[in-house]
Amino acid sequence: MSLIMHTLHVELGERTYPVYIGRDLLSDNKLLAQHIAGSQVVLISNETIAPLYAERVRSALGDRQLITEIVLPDGEQYKSLDTLSDIFDRVMADKHSRNTTFIALGGGVVGDITGFAAACYQRGVNFIQVPTTLLAQVDSSVGGKTAVNHPQGKNMIGAFYQPQAVLIDINTLQTLPAREFSAGLAEVVKYGLISDEPFYRWLQEHMPRLLAREEAALAEAIERSCANKAQVVAEDEREGGLRAILNLGHTFGHAIETGQGYGKWLHGEAVATGMLLALELSARRGWIEATEVEDFRTLLLDIHLPVAPPADMDAEAFLELMAHDKKVIDGKLRVILLKAIGSACIVDDVTDTEIRGLLAPS
Ligand code: NAD
Ligand code: GLY
Repeated sequence: MSLIMHTLHVELGERTYPVYIGRDLLSDNKLLAQHIAGSQVVLISNETIAPLYAERVRSALGDRQLITEIVLPDGEQYKSLDTLSDIFDRVMADKHSRNTTFIALGGGVVGDITGFAAACYQRGVNFIQVPTTLLAQVDSSVGGKTAVNHPQGKNMIGAFYQPQAVLIDINTLQTLPAREFSAGLAEVVKYGLISDEPFYRWLQEHMPRLLAREEAALAEAIERSCANKAQVVAEDEREGGLRAILNLGHTFGHAIETGQGYGKWLHGEAVATGMLLALELSARRGWIEATEVEDFRTLLLDIHLPVAPPADMDAEAFLELMAHDKKVIDGKLRVILLKAIGSACIVDDVTDTEIRGLLAPS
C-alpha cells in the first residue's frame, strides 16, 4: 500500500510543483495519473534500476496507449550527448507528441539526462522525477538543474527545467549500496550546516536510525532536506547568488574529484571532505568553534565518509585545480563558508596562504 508521508512544494509561481515523500509511491497509479496529462509516456531508467523498479511503474501506468521504455547503460560516462541523441531517436521513432510525459526513474544521472531530454524535446514536455538514490532524493531531483556532460566539462550542456512533480519513494533506498547511501547522507548533512541548525542537531542525534535506514527517520531527513532546498530554489532559481550556498564543500570537492579522476571518489565523498575543509577554514577565521569542526569530523566518520584529502594531493595540487573554478567564476575563487552552524556565506577573498595553511601536513 502506498502512503504519502510528507508533501511540500517548490514555490515558483505558475511552475510551482509538489514533492511527495512516502512509501511505495512509484506504484501509486492515482498519484502518477495526477501528473500525466495525456496517454503517452517515456519511462527512462538504467540497467541496474530497471530490473528492480521499472515493472512497478509500468503497471501503475495502466493501459496508456503509448509507453516507450528506455533502459540506459549505468554510469556517469553515459550522461552524454550521444545518449541524449539515442533517447531522441527512440522517442521520435515511437512518434511521441508534445503531449507526452517523460519519467526519470533513477539516480542523479538518469534524472539529469531525462530532465534535459524533456526540456529539449519539442521545446519542452511534461516531466516527472522518481529519484531512487538518496542524493537524487534530497538534491538533484529538486530544483530543475538538468544537464549532460561534455568531454571538456561536467554538466556543461544543460538547462534549468523544472519537473511537474517529484515522487520520492523511500523504499527504493533499501536496495541502494552502502557507499552510495553514505554519499547521499553527506548532502543531507549539508542542509543542516548551511541553513538549518536544529536539523543539524537532529542529524547528530538520529544518525544511527538513518544508518539503519529506518523509515520514519529517512522520511523526516528527506523532508527537511527538500524543504531547505526548495526554499533556496524559490528565492534564487537560476543561481544569481544565494543558490550557491548549496555548493558548500564543492570547491574543494571538485578539486578532489578532478584530481583523482572522476569516479574514484563519489561526489558525496568528495563533498564531505570538502565540507570539513570549509568548516576548518571557517574556524580559522574565528566564525565557528573548533569543537564544531571536531564534532563534524566525528559525524562524517560515523557515516563512513572520508575526512582527509587524498594522500597524493597537497596544497599546490588543490590550488592548481581550484584555479579552474576561479576562471569559471569571474577570476575569483568563490568558497562557501559558515558564519555559524546553520548559516552559510559566500566569500571571494580566500587567499592562497589560507589554503596552504589549511592543507599543510600536520
Ligand atoms: P547515479 O545516478 O550514478 O546512481 C548511483 C548508482 O546507484 C548507480 O549505479 C545507479 O544505477 C545505482 N542506483 C540508483 N538507485 C538505486 C537503487 N534504489 N538501488 C540500487 N542501486 C541504485 O548517482 P547519483 O549520486 O544519484 O547522482 C549523481 C549525478 O547527479 C551526477 O551526474 C551529478 O552531476 C548529478 N547531480 C545533479 C544535481 C542537480 O541539481 N541536478 C545535483 C547533484 C548531483
Ligand atoms: N546541487 C546544487 C543545486 O541544485 O544548485
